[in-house]
Amino acid sequence: MTDKQQSSVAVFPGSFDPVTVGHIDLIERSIAVFDKVIVAVACNQEKTPLFSVPERIDMIEKIFSHTDRVKVETFDGLLINYIQNGEAHVIIRGLRAVSDFEYEFQMALMNHKLAPGIETFFMTSSALYTYVSSRIVKELASLGGDVSDLVHPLVEEKIKEKYSRI
Ligand code: PNS
Repeated sequence: MTDKQQSSVAVFPGSFDPVTVGHIDLIERSIAVFDKVIVAVACNQEKTPLFSVPERIDMIEKIFSHTDRVKVETFDGLLINYIQNGEAHVIIRGLRAVSDFEYEFQMALMNHKLAPGIETFFMTSSALYTYVSSRIVKELASLGGDVSDLVHPLVEEKIKEKYSRI
């Protein structure tokens, strides 16, 4: 395998509960840079997620069904252990604001200490989406607010179903 091939697969990890327009934007921009992007849905991040891991995977797979360059997987435990068992050498993380930086910086340094061969690449979120987060989407939707600008229509539908049942 050449150096180019090794560096052209990236992992975009996160909770994605649910995937937002901010995530979608970062994934789309990542596949303009990398040959393949593996969206890695973390298990057990939150004790009471709105969506199960299979539901989150299904939504992301449907949104990116038009391309075979986005693959969706799940992982449990340390991100680095999951990545070391796969083909990627790059972790992509989005930065929306300075407030994201401290945690992201710590995580990148810790991951680099655990696995020096794996690099974290930060992408700034598009200005349009700096205020969007899964947490804000859930809070707004739970109070009956309109989340159509914040999530894909398919996700909006699923959120409505969830909150109509709760
Ligand atoms: O969407 P999020 O919540 O910002 O995603 C954070 C996530 C899941 C990427 C991060 O918490 C993570 O990698 N968790 C797995 C455990 C791990 O490897 N932690 C970093 C080293 S201690």
